[in-house]
Amino acid sequence: MSNNDSIKKTIIVTVLLCIVCSVIVSAAAVLLRPAQVANKSLDFKRNILSAAGLLEPGKNVDAIFNERVVTRVVDLKTGKFTDAVDPVSYDQRRASKDPSLSTNLSADEDLAKISRREDYSVVYLIQDENEQLQKIILPVKGYGLWSTLYGFLALEADANTVVGLVFYEHAETPGLGGEVDNPVWKAKWVGKEVYDEGDVAIAIIKGSVDSSSSNAVHQVDGLSGATLTSRGVHNLLHFWLGDNGYKPFLTNLKNGEA
Ligand SMILES: Cc1cc2nc3c(=O)[nH]c(=O)nc-3n(C[C@H](O)[C@H](O)[C@H](O)COP(=O)(O)O)c2cc1C
Repeated sequence: MSNNDSIKKTIIVTVLLCIVCSVIVSAAAVLLRPAQVANKSLDFKRNILSAAGLLEPGKNVDAIFNERVVTRVVDLKTGKFTDAVDPVSYDQRRASKDPSLSTNLSADEDLAKISRREDYSVVYLIQDENEQLQKIILPVKGYGLWSTLYGFLALEADANTVVGLVFYEHAETPGLGGEVDNPVWKAKWVGKEVYDEGDVAIAIIKGSVDSSSSNAVHQVDGLSGATLTSRGVHNLLHFWLGDNGYKPFLTNLKNGEA
């Protein structure tokens, strides 16, 4: 009679079990990859629509995106549209780390704490039936307290009035810095103006905005207990709305020269 407790059999069973498990895990990873990529892309589009206030409950995100959104690439140095890269295959996050596709920022310039800024940015435009610009959605990113926050800032066609600000990726503390995702806080951004006579004026202040103040249109309440994340969001907006961000592009766009 064979002994099932022998060392040889134990090793064979262990090895076989390992092989079977690794095949299952690898197959799952390979088979689920296309679904993961599709979901990531869908989530990306959902966040763009959310920033632009175009999400409609129950309506297909892909359908709204394809119908309403025009995807363009902007050369951040010239502030003009470019065909230098294909917006579909261009990996903006990777480009920001590639010295041939990005620009090093000095400590003074680097308000968003991102070290390098990609030379090309994919932006999203909402147009009406007559191809008149309605909204502009700009990718933004910068360091909070624990993490880099990635999001979208949507502006009206005046390139000044905020339609929405959403962050789709960050690792700030839930309940503290993570309150950047709170719909109540996000609603406070709508209608705020980012520039005052050409200067970046949007500000996250500590405490609550005094609605009777002349600056109220540029100010948003800070997140309580999360001053450092709030400061990170303030700084990243100042970077992306400034000369090293989208300011040249937004100026060109307003003057019909983009
Ligand atoms: C475990 C832990 C997590 C924290 N996470 C955050 C955070 O995500 N964002 C943030 O601004 N502050 C966070 N803080 C608080 C900061 O250390 C700091 O106290 C706070 O930003 C000050 O904000 P306040 O002046 O509004 O109190 C955290 C603190 C602790 C102990």
